[in-house]
Amino acid sequence: MAAVNYRHAFHAGNFGDCVKHAVLVWLLRALQRKVAPLYVLDTHAGVGRYDLNAGAAARTEEWQRGIGQLLDDPPPLLADYVGLVQSLGLYPGSPAIVRALLRPYDRLVCCELHPEDAASLRRHFAADTQVAVHHRDAWEALGALLPPKERRGLVLIDPPFEGPQEFAALADGLATGWQRFRTGVFATWYPFKQRAPVRQFLADMQQSGVRDIVIAELCLREPVDPVRLNGCGMLVVNPPYRFEQELPAILTALLGRLGDRDPGAATTVRRIVDE
Ligand SMILES: C[S@@+](CC[C@H](N)C(=O)[O-])C[C@H]1O[C@@H](n2cnc3c(N)ncnc32)[C@H](O)[C@@H]1O
Repeated sequence: MAAVNYRHAFHAGNFGDCVKHAVLVWLLRALQRKVAPLYVLDTHAGVGRYDLNAGAAARTEEWQRGIGQLLDDPPPLLADYVGLVQSLGLYPGSPAIVRALLRPYDRLVCCELHPEDAASLRRHFAADTQVAVHHRDAWEALGALLPPKERRGLVLIDPPFEGPQEFAALADGLATGWQRFRTGVFATWYPFKQRAPVRQFLADMQQSGVRDIVIAELCLREPVDPVRLNGCGMLVVNPPYRFEQELPAILTALLGRLGDRDPGAATTVRRIVDE
């Protein structure tokens, strides 16, 4: 197994997490409009909970310009996500957010490659019969853990983007997962530092054969500085009903609090592949 250097604790609660987790909450609520059981696969789970006032998160304080801007009097469209954060105590990573929203007949499977993070997440969910934690490679899991017996599911793919090959791995992983589970909803987060890698990733997805893809992007400024996280996006395959109608206002609400009125700031919700 490859070693993982990335530690999400340095970035927990930053604006990228806020975009990702606000969209995640919207997707879960939308999928739970139907009563049928739901399967959630979180391929890059992390440790699930982060203390923003200690350790790595306190050192970078990235969260101050992220969730720190949303906690007081959150805009109504973000109240669901922010209310969850407030009710869960430590800043919740994706497994904690999903777990909080599972109905008694839904289940969550988490994969995490970092041995300590996987062990910590497994300890946290040890007594929970609705959650399974695997110390496992995400790209391999997308082939092995799909399709679920429920036939209804959300797959969250949230790689660390440690190396330049990660966009290509993501496009391959999405295509692999979709081949095995064509009705599944796939949501993946990606960073926006410069335009070229994102443009190439979206072009690869348009060539991949995967159908029904919409992207939701938020840029804090023009994405021209390769060493800054200038923005981020969520690419969603098989988006639930009303995603394209409702996400623009959610992104605008996020930008209203997380942006600093930079003239290059922008939000986009755009279909890149038809159904
Ligand atoms: C961006 S963080 C995940 C954050 C989490 N999804 C959340 O929203 O709270 C990426 C995680 O993926 C893990 N990771 C890196 N490469 C992996 C791989 N090939 N398979 C599974 N996990 C991996 C890292 O250890 C890290 O915890």
